[in-house]
Amino acid sequence: MQTLLSRAPGPPETLTLETLPDPVAGLGEALVRVKACGVNFPDVLIIEDKYQLLPERPFAPGCEIAGVVEALAPGVSGLELGQRVIAYTAFGGMSELLAVAAERLVPMPEAMPFDEGAALTMTYGTAHYALHERGRLHRGETLLVLGAAGGVGLAAVELGKAAGARVIAAVSSPDKAAAARDAGADQALVYPRGPFDREAAKALSAQFKAACGPAGADVVFDPVGGDYAEAAIRAIAWNGRFLVVGFPAGIPRLPLNLVLLKSCNVVGVAWGAVIRDDPEGESLRVRELIELYDRGLIRPRVSMRFPLARGGDAIARLAAREAIGKIVVMTDPPANGQS
Ligand SMILES: NC(=O)c1ccc[n+]([C@@H]2O[C@H](COP(=O)([O-])OP(=O)(O)OC[C@H]3O[C@@H](n4cnc5c(N)ncnc54)[C@H](OP(=O)(O)O)[C@@H]3O)[C@@H](O)[C@H]2O)c1
Repeated sequence: MQTLLSRAPGPPETLTLETLPDPVAGLGEALVRVKACGVNFPDVLIIEDKYQLLPERPFAPGCEIAGVVEALAPGVSGLELGQRVIAYTAFGGMSELLAVAAERLVPMPEAMPFDEGAALTMTYGTAHYALHERGRLHRGETLLVLGAAGGVGLAAVELGKAAGARVIAAVSSPDKAAAARDAGADQALVYPRGPFDREAAKALSAQFKAACGPAGADVVFDPVGGDYAEAAIRAIAWNGRFLVVGFPAGIPRLPLNLVLLKSCNVVGVAWGAVIRDDPEGESLRVRELIELYDRGLIRPRVSMRFPLARGGDAIARLAAREAIGKIVVMTDPPANGQS
């Protein structure tokens, strides 16, 4: 089988397409023929050894997949050969075949295309866990989403609307604003690209405050970090919840006086750790996401598709802040180039 390997820490161009013997399903595992693999920011970090997870090399990046069950280890039940499945795999997804713990596989609806299935578990799983279990988002509340046209950002927009919130999307370009509005955001604002000096940070905060209104944002969903975080927390409501999701713009430092003055909660979202410890809880969450998908309340927006051989280019486009919605790597032709 073909697989895209990281043999030494480095940027996407260091990945090499190689042919390896087909893997075998081990104890409790299913062998999945991968049809599509979602690209996520952790892929940018993991190949450079900058992610909290450090897999043994060589490994393939790619943490969420959609595919078909090709073989089952003896004793594995509840799955059938040929069944369409989706899964979070942490890494390894940019391969034609992957052995996955059977308990991590969730049946995929017949009507769901593989590229959309490969964009469901991590992005929507993170946003769902963040908004509901960490942010306690309620109907009618105001939700401010930063990086709202990225993978987890756009998922938060859709899930926020599905939960009945007023969603303010904050993004860095008019195209991204249009994508967020298309996904259901009530309002979209375009912020400048950081880093910011004092005046620019003040202006950004004023922009957030103007969009959220005098009461502020009940929940801020922040998968961006950097200088955007402090500007956003200044626009949070009394008793608001600030969800710390990710840091593509850098790890921010927050003045704690703001937390006191706003009586707000700064809440960490460690979805990866939660699902590692509770695969059953995660599989329930994915089933709930599939139900929302079936009801037409969420739909991954795949804006670019790359073949396996160009998986490195796919990761590079995401790292360059170019992704709108999801970038997906397809293992089956025809997927030569982007759509
Ligand atoms: N906590 C968890 O459990 C968890 C789970 C999954 C992902 N994450 C994290 O969430 C973050 C977003 O992941 P994702 O897969 O949604 O990534 P993504 O699709 O690339 O979205 C990230 C967004 O961040 C913004 N951004 C600001 N500065 C950037 C920069 N210098 N480089 C790249 N993007 C920049 C971009 O939006 P604008 O251009 O509009 O600003 C971009 O759309 C990552 O840090 C990832 O590690 C965390």
